[in-house]
Amino acid sequence: MSDAKPLAEAISIHLADEAATAALGRTLAHLARAGDVIALTGELGSGKTALARAFINALPRPDGRVMPEDVPSPTFTLVQTYARQPATVWHFDLYRIGDPDEIDELGWDEALDEGIVLVEWPERLGRRLPRDHLDLLMTFPEDGEGRLAILQAAGDWAERLKGLQELD
Ligand SMILES: Nc1ncnc2c1ncn2[C@@H]1O[C@H](COP(=O)(O)OP(=O)(O)O)[C@@H](O)[C@H]1O
Ligand SMILES: [Mg+2]
Repeated sequence: MSDAKPLAEAISIHLADEAATAALGRTLAHLARAGDVIALTGELGSGKTALARAFINALPRPDGRVMPEDVPSPTFTLVQTYARQPATVWHFDLYRIGDPDEIDELGWDEALDEGIVLVEWPERLGRRLPRDHLDLLMTFPEDGEGRLAILQAAGDWAERLKGLQELD
């Protein structure tokens, strides 16, 4: 029998508008630590980059100042890095990679070792996606406005996400 812990129950949060998406991004930013991986899944236009932007801009820079900056989608560059506390944020968009091993050239191992990783299109990673990650799926609700975020925690994320449901 495997001694792997079962996955925690998924948490669903309705995000009425882009401000709510940004608020979830900021909340997650304040829970994040070096070595974390947050997999942002969901179709084009579902809000993955919007959430990443708010996450990055919520964290202080190395000098301690919180100063929002332009956070472009890394669609073409594939990765953008942001010097922040408590760690550098590596924002990947892997939509355009062909083979999971292409991430070696993008600094993937360094990002996992020292950074906070936000990755759009984590499906592209196959087995290279670490098992211990927070999965955040952005969906379009069947009825109603906005988005539905579905969070699935692995590792110690479940513990950290306690209380998050109250946001809903
Ligand atoms: N909760 C929400 N409700 C409605 N619109 C949203 C919400 N969150 C984000 N958006 C909008 O959806 C679009 C998402 O774009 P983007 O973040 O680039 O998507 P993705 O990176 O998933 O392709 C933006 O136009 C943003 O304003
Ligand atoms: Mg995007």
